[in-house]
Amino acid sequence: MNQTNTTAPFQTPKLAAVLGHPIAQSKSPLMHGHWLKKNQISGDYFAIDIAPARFSETVRMLFDLGFSGFNVTIPHKEQALAFADNITPRAQRIGASNTLIKKDNGNINADNTDSYGFMANLTSKSTTWQPSAGPSLVLGAGGAARAILVALLDAGVPKIYLCNRTRSRAEDLAADISDCIEVIDWQHKEDVLPDAFTVVNATSLGMTGKPALEFDLTNVNPDALVTDLIYAPLETQFLKDARARGCEVVSGIGMLLHQGVPGFEAWFGSRPAVDEDLEALVLT
Ligand code: ATR
Repeated sequence: MNQTNTTAPFQTPKLAAVLGHPIAQSKSPLMHGHWLKKNQISGDYFAIDIAPARFSETVRMLFDLGFSGFNVTIPHKEQALAFADNITPRAQRIGASNTLIKKDNGNINADNTDSYGFMANLTSKSTTWQPSAGPSLVLGAGGAARAILVALLDAGVPKIYLCNRTRSRAEDLAADISDCIEVIDWQHKEDVLPDAFTVVNATSLGMTGKPALEFDLTNVNPDALVTDLIYAPLETQFLKDARARGCEVVSGIGMLLHQGVPGFEAWFGSRPAVDEDLEALVLT
């Protein structure tokens, strides 16, 4: 019998990590570890805590050591943008980067995949949602809301009502992003519900351990798609109320999973799947 040599040539394992401060809470190592195993890729993904004052020097050192790239989380997302040689248009518009990628020529590319993750989550969970059907209502004006506004406008939403407890923050965001955003007072958030075809909670209200989101959905359009960026609990009271009114609802867990896809593909060379196994793993 002929013997074939099945020894694969040695390949240097590829490395990536999530950078934050603190970082212990991050689900990214679980997610990317699962994808590495599932795709039988020789590589590793770490969680690294970096103090803000040492961000640039540490990232430079890690790239020198051979890392292919990083996910970046609070409080480093703006510093990551400043660190990069090139910035994608969506990261530029969002004003923050959650994904750093070393290109073949050595340049560092800063991307922001939050808007992609938000949209991939909606389009994978809903077969009927049409962004162009009518206005959206977005609650919140933090970093997460900014990525959602960019995602909705890029998808063809014609108008967005933006509503935040601190009105000035919503006004600054609207002025920065688009004329198609109309700021409304927090007390009047229910008034535009009949007109909204997409309703998004991008505040931290309703998250486990945070105050509830007091939002009367009596007048919601039953054809509206309602989504919450929160995934703990998996189905918030806000989504339960919307479901009870006949709306299609989408939880926030899928956004977390999908936003990791472009980074993994760039660092490890294989596009990973977002499936039920992954969702169950991340939720445990
Ligand atoms: P992120 O970057 O995740 O968006 P953030 O910048 O802290 O986090 O924003 C949290 C959002 O939740 C903000 O829109 C915040 O409103 P303010 O801008 O008025 O702070 C909103 N939020 C937090 N606690 C709130 C509360 N008790 N009532 C209403 N909105 C609240």
